[in-house]
Amino acid sequence: MRITIKIQRFNPESEIKKAHWVDYTLDAGRETTVLLALIKIKEEIDGTLTFRASCRASICGSDLMMINGIQKLACRTSVLEEISRHGKLQVGPMDKMPVIKDLVVDMDPFWQKLKAVKPYVERQNDDAPVQSETLTNIQEDLENADACIMCGACLSACNSFEASSDFLGPAALAKAYRIQVDPRDEMRIDRLTALQEDNGIWDCVRCVYCVQVCPKDVAPMEQIVRLRRLSIAANMTESIGALHITKFTEVVGEEGRLNETKLPLLMTWGNFKKMFQMIPLGIKMLIHGKSPNPFADPPAGHKAVRAIFKGRKK
Ligand code: SF4
Ligand code: SF4
Ligand code: FES
Repeated sequence: MRITIKIQRFNPESEIKKAHWVDYTLDAGRETTVLLALIKIKEEIDGTLTFRASCRASICGSDLMMINGIQKLACRTSVLEEISRHGKLQVGPMDKMPVIKDLVVDMDPFWQKLKAVKPYVERQNDDAPVQSETLTNIQEDLENADACIMCGACLSACNSFEASSDFLGPAALAKAYRIQVDPRDEMRIDRLTALQEDNGIWDCVRCVYCVQVCPKDVAPMEQIVRLRRLSIAANMTESIGALHITKFTEVVGEEGRLNETKLPLLMTWGNFKKMFQMIPLGIKMLIHGKSPNPFADPPAGHKAVRAIFKGRKK
């Protein structure tokens, strides 16, 4: 079947300095992946087309690109399926990453984030003699966090990364979880403490995009939630994100409903800077009717909710 692929081209050294779309027409069959089509274009139509690829088997993670606007591995995406689903096939470089040429992006921001979480097992004292062999059986605890192939799809899709380029990002945080549950690591509390900082685990907005686009089912957001649970279990409850969870539970447990007026006050009590920072949000909530009258009668069923919370504590 004859198909047309629209490819985003960019070459900083050419006369056309701007990114632009170019159409390529070629034969494709059921077995043709986007990567095979790109290779065919490079070999038979335009040798200047530039892209990264290696294993052709969803292992190396190097050919992640935007295919019809979604982060996908070119080697595991069928050309005909894309066309039948979207009526077209558009291929561009990974979103939110600096483009070097055509479909090749600079992965440095991704690697820097990974480096920041120290993705290796550490000992407190490297010179101390090892007492005994460490036997581990942690496959279940890893929750598939070790399946990451470093393709960058999750970071490229991440809303928090879009809002702040300093956010550690889904892949690095999934790696942080993978090390956190490794019994050989002796720095787990220090690691967890570092993740409480701005741009750490509490800055994920749970948009689920990283879960949707990950080609290896690493489910980074779920690993971040696990890190949050571990933090609260370790009494790391000072950050606004952790306070939101603990105070939310407290308010619902006491009142049998969520009191949006009381919650921000409890979260920031005694911290005038944070209370002050909450004022614009409070005004917005008032304008949009999201701050209920704190003296209004509680809703029906509140006693049942309180009873559930009471039972949970026993
Ligand atoms: S769920 Fe969190 S980490 Fe994942 S893409 Fe959304 S904001 Fe980013
Ligand atoms: S977590 Fe998934 S999407 Fe993110 S880099 Fe690893 S394999 Fe790719
Ligand atoms: S070429 Fe290696 S993952 Fe696609």
